[in-house]
Amino acid sequence: MRFGEGVYHCIKAQQFSHDFLEEICDLADKIRQIANTKAGMEYLSSILNHKQAMLYFVQPSTRTFLSFYSACQILGIKCAEVRDPKTSSEIKGESEEDTVRTFSSYFDLIIMRHPQANFAEKIAAMLDGTERPVPVINAGSGKDQHPTQALLDVYTLRRSFSHRGGIDGKQIVFAGDLLRGRTVRSLSTLLTKYRDVKQYFAAPPEFQIGQDILDFLDENGTDYVLTDDFEAVIKGADAIYMTRLQDEWDGADKTSARVEIERFSLRERHLRTLKADAVILHPLPRRLEIDVAIDSDPRAGYWRQVRNGMWARVALIATTFRRDRHILDYYLTNL
Ligand code: NCD
Repeated sequence: MRFGEGVYHCIKAQQFSHDFLEEICDLADKIRQIANTKAGMEYLSSILNHKQAMLYFVQPSTRTFLSFYSACQILGIKCAEVRDPKTSSEIKGESEEDTVRTFSSYFDLIIMRHPQANFAEKIAAMLDGTERPVPVINAGSGKDQHPTQALLDVYTLRRSFSHRGGIDGKQIVFAGDLLRGRTVRSLSTLLTKYRDVKQYFAAPPEFQIGQDILDFLDENGTDYVLTDDFEAVIKGADAIYMTRLQDEWDGADKTSARVEIERFSLRERHLRTLKADAVILHPLPRRLEIDVAIDSDPRAGYWRQVRNGMWARVALIATTFRRDRHILDYYLTNL
């Protein structure tokens, strides 16, 4: 399951080390430079043009789907997609595990988004026991994990703080629906790999971050604050990570309707209270939690974050197929 041994699966944020994160970010920066020229793009698209990927996305997605799709194309990987399991033999009573195992026979990589928390992990473990243990990348699993989003978030933070000593020592505020937002859960986990990062969780009590994440932060000696006072914590923040209400997970009790989520929204009037060099992030899609007027503020980092996502995924996929050295050699010779 870990990078560095056997098949490279990317399942959850806990598996990444600090060094691995730094390597992926460095590689993504170099890939971007290589991609600046036609010759560079031609080189990149030749690296894995003998490989095929299946994008198994049975939960709504357009941006993450396209981000992975574009990342594969940059590396020359051919893609096929499964978006609706109703069109497959599952309708004939086949288990989803059998469906994915069958599909894996045609592909060299499975990129998977699924509503079930541990499905990608289950598939990776199952494939490891077969004669074709192809790598699995988790592109979002239920309310639990979104490791590649966290990777691109770290990449964005690192670029944002490149002239301010990097991520170490920064104050990061997470705001919104932190209980059901998987991107926050994965990013909070990854930030424990950096020194003296203080994490602030600003949420309504009903949607405060899960105890399992707080236990993990405790185990790793990470300092954190739980609050429902959004306006108070954003003032000192180096980064503010906004999220939307995840009301697709509401049960019959419709908790979301009873919660005052507007109190955890970034309004234009807040801009003058933020640090001059703060960065505002959002995994998108956004609803009303960030005023559109904020988009033109230099601190709005969420559009850059999207672009960074594609390059971070190119770096991850290249590393999954152990082509990272190859790319670094090309970089040293040609740039
Ligand atoms: C997020 C997700 O799917 O968890 N979106 C994404 O991948 N960029 C966030 C969300 O849906 O709110």
